[in-house]
Amino acid sequence: MNRKEFIKLTSLTSGWIVAGGMGTFLNSCRKDNVMMRTAIKVKEGSFSKALTFPGLLNKGASLTSFATVAQLVGEKSTSVWTYNGSCLGPTIEINKGDNFSTKYINELSEESVIHWHGLLLPSDMDGHPDNTVFPGNSFDYNFPIIQRAGAYWYHPHTHMKTARQVYMGLAGFFIVRDSEELSLNLPSGANEIPLAIQDKRFFHDYSINYNPTMDDVMTGYLGDAIIVNGTFAPYHEVKAEWYRLRILNGSNARIYNLNFSNGNTFYIIGNDGGLLPAPIQATSVLLAPGERCDLLLDLSSGNIGDEIYLQNNVFNGDNFQGADSFKILKFKITQKGSNSFTLPSSLSLINPIQVLPTTFVRNFDISNASGGAHAQHGAGSGMMEHKINGKAFDMKRIDAVVNAGDTEVWHFDNSMGNEPHPMHMHGVQFQVISRTGGRSQLFPVEGGWKDTVLVMAKEQVKVAVTFPNYKGKFLMHCHNLEHEDSGMMINFEIQ
Ligand code: C2O
Ligand code: CU
Ligand code: CU
Repeated sequence: MNRKEFIKLTSLTSGWIVAGGMGTFLNSCRKDNVMMRTAIKVKEGSFSKALTFPGLLNKGASLTSFATVAQLVGEKSTSVWTYNGSCLGPTIEINKGDNFSTKYINELSEESVIHWHGLLLPSDMDGHPDNTVFPGNSFDYNFPIIQRAGAYWYHPHTHMKTARQVYMGLAGFFIVRDSEELSLNLPSGANEIPLAIQDKRFFHDYSINYNPTMDDVMTGYLGDAIIVNGTFAPYHEVKAEWYRLRILNGSNARIYNLNFSNGNTFYIIGNDGGLLPAPIQATSVLLAPGERCDLLLDLSSGNIGDEIYLQNNVFNGDNFQGADSFKILKFKITQKGSNSFTLPSSLSLINPIQVLPTTFVRNFDISNASGGAHAQHGAGSGMMEHKINGKAFDMKRIDAVVNAGDTEVWHFDNSMGNEPHPMHMHGVQFQVISRTGGRSQLFPVEGGWKDTVLVMAKEQVKVAVTFPNYKGKFLMHCHNLEHEDSGMMINFEIQ
């Protein structure tokens, strides 16, 4: 490591003291990696602050985005941007078949717009950056919930400002319920725990001012502190019972390899688009930005006093991610269990989308291999570009026209690329049908219905999608939000 790189490294740790001193720090730099600045070592806190949960948004209530302060680290104040004053924003819960409506009021000093990630909805309700809501203005969202139960979410989608606005605190859960899911009697109430995992960089004064360098734009903005539902290093008291954890990776760019410190087996029951056909036993799950995982954790044989951490293990990522392990959240068993639960053997019926040899395959080169990722963006912006099929996003350009009701295969080709890209489509749920190169397999958590799929370096991933009968303009993009904001997005039009 030369001196310049070393200075860069140390400046990234800002006000934080690196646990274990510089030795640990240097060891975390990968030897095979020429870009030694990669090791933004994640540090753990003391897990002494209680996890909190956002309140529910009342039916028909409005959502207002504004700047305020929140206590993310202990009792320290951090300036954040919120929906209705809470960081994470209020949870929306709604039944399939109901109508959702809210007035969005923008009290930020910049434009914004709300996107309902994972929902099937009319184009003009989807929060396209074209439908921006200016400061002091409002917009009425109103659409029917026509899809199955699942943990969806909402966040801004402002032109070239999505990353900043999400990072500053704007995001929330959007939970859809239906009768199929209810009939399974899954753990509910206090035993159903929504967890939004995000990473931040806190400076000396606990501010999280978003100011990515060109390197950050290339890798995505990786934090060195993990917050869950807006709290750094939280603990949560549980009973010795079954729990349902509904995990959202709401980070701008960080991928997590989640597991439990006791090596506990858990059961994956759902993902982006709701329940899987049957529970899948697992000991870890890889979750990219935008993805969700619904899992059941059996703590019924635990003892009072047991402490179990939800944590990240090393994984084979790229030069910037996957290098270190860290704890995220502590569960403390403080009470004996009282309710019993039996894991259902099946959960839901998933009809595979019919893919025929004649099904149209649409190719998207996401390798950014032709220097795109390193090229300068427009005048003075200092931004790098990420591209799809050699082009950076243009709000007015339609990159793909598809027919309502048609099935297509969308092929995300990262075979020449060096970066992971979690690819996301708006307005649809798709099925992942193949992965070649790289990890060369599909994973249990990629079954069922998905709206975001991780395409690691060297991989080619195909998804099957049938377009709903909502005509108009939708987006497909990389959910590494720095990649998205720097151009890695297209418009597709359903006609
Ligand atoms: Cu959650 Cu277009 O994104
Ligand atoms: Cu989305
Ligand atoms: Cu990307």
